[in-house]
Amino acid sequence: MGTKRGSTLTSKWIKTNVLMKSAKISPLIPETVRFGRESLKQMLDKYGMVYIKPERGTHGNGVMRAETVRESGKTSYQCQNGTKIQKMQEFESFYRSLKKRTGSRSYLIQKGIPLLKHKDRRFDLRVMVQISPEGKWETTGLIGRVAEPGKIVTNYHNGGKPMAIEKLLSSHMDASRQAQLIKQLKKLGEDIGKFYHKKNLAFKQIGVDVGLDRKLTPWIIEVNTSPDPYIFNQLKDKSMYRKVMAYRRTILKQKKA
Ligand SMILES: Nc1ncnc2c1ncn2[C@@H]1O[C@H](COP(=O)(O)OP(=O)(O)OP(=O)(O)O)[C@@H](O)[C@H]1O
Ligand SMILES: [Mg+2]
Repeated sequence: MGTKRGSTLTSKWIKTNVLMKSAKISPLIPETVRFGRESLKQMLDKYGMVYIKPERGTHGNGVMRAETVRESGKTSYQCQNGTKIQKMQEFESFYRSLKKRTGSRSYLIQKGIPLLKHKDRRFDLRVMVQISPEGKWETTGLIGRVAEPGKIVTNYHNGGKPMAIEKLLSSHMDASRQAQLIKQLKKLGEDIGKFYHKKNLAFKQIGVDVGLDRKLTPWIIEVNTSPDPYIFNQLKDKSMYRKVMAYRRTILKQKKA
């Protein structure tokens, strides 16, 4: 398989751009560009709602949601950070207030996915994919993460609550559609792992953050290369947690050898 780079990678920009090279996976990646005055204007004109996030962020920290608002024929701009919402009339002052927050750090802008909700709280999904003891990519865990009321991120470290995926999906689709989606998510995770290996990125476990819109398109929000296994311990049924931990032990042992 040729020489491989290290087994974790923090830059969302690099991880996204590698996946964009896959004809199969790229249609599921929300358009992502570097943060700047021109790119912000273009992305807001194109999508109306975008997420702005640190290139190397974790735990949902620094993630903002920006959108255009049309009111009586006039466009204004709105930004949410945590539960705080700020509104501005002019694009230039809007950009400058965002720029103040980003400072000299590298940020990305991503097409915003209007996430499905559970009891009025946004949720997304985490797909855990690991190299099996037999050396093959395998989806070992699937879990939902529900945002705190009014929040725009679902991360556990930001008040998000892990929840069984069936519980979240059941009010949005029937059982057969659910089974089909779960199959699609498992395959998607494995395809992503395989593609990274093809591109010589030697990850052994990945956690794919997937956002669902009303059409149930599984949008790839980001791929984590050191995914938290303990989130699965939050489920009453411990079977996924046990599998994730068992695979993880094998992976860590192999690394030491
Ligand atoms: N384009 C988007 N559309 C909708 N929601 C998004 C989008 N980008 C991010 N989010 C929400 O914000 C959360 C955090 O964003 P993201 O996963 O990209 O960064 P991070 O969590 O800070 O990084 P890490 O998962 O590595 O700790 C996501 O789980 C999701 O709930
Ligand atoms: Mg994340």
